[in-house]
Amino acid sequence: MDIKSKIRVIEDFPEKGISFKDITTLIKDGEAFQEVVNRIVDDLKAREVDYIAGPEARGFLLGAAVAYALGIGFIPIRKPGKLPAETVKHEYELEYGNNTLEIHFDAIEKGKKVAIVDDLLATGGTVLSAVKLIESIGGEVVALEFLIELEFLKGRDKLSNYHTNSLVKYDR
Ligand code: PRP
Ligand code: MG
Repeated sequence: MDIKSKIRVIEDFPEKGISFKDITTLIKDGEAFQEVVNRIVDDLKAREVDYIAGPEARGFLLGAAVAYALGIGFIPIRKPGKLPAETVKHEYELEYGNNTLEIHFDAIEKGKKVAIVDDLLATGGTVLSAVKLIESIGGEVVALEFLIELEFLKGRDKLSNYHTNSLVKYDR
């Protein structure tokens, strides 16, 4: 299946010059959604992953589906003020603007293997923030899985210590 053909590209959103990759058109297509989840699952099968973690919001869409398909648990990494128990926080820069993410302090038992799933690798700021949060509470990050990689932003360069997989790549 040509996954790329299911992704809609919107120019100049949310700011002039940004070519936005819209996955709503992909996830509303049941076969395409399943294909994407299956391809991520295939890459993770041999890695003995204990948990999937996903950053709010678009990371929830794919991450929870991947966790369900693997029969393992899902850990939400959320925007500030949403998680009710004790949290750790990390602030980072985005392609446009900045952001803070939080994880529950007790979300991961020491040494458990975690794969992070998100829709998009752009600058890598979000996923690195998720990595830092997971490692700070004792988890071991064993894989980073993305539907889309914006290669021209070179996020992958920051992630050389981790197995990094993306299904669809863009050069603009
Ligand atoms: C988008 C996307 C990734 C992140 C990638 O999330 O879903 O999480 O940006 O960019 P980066 O590699 O430069 O960090 P965004 O924060 O826009 O919010 P959303 O998932 O809630 O839509
Ligand atoms: Mg996101």
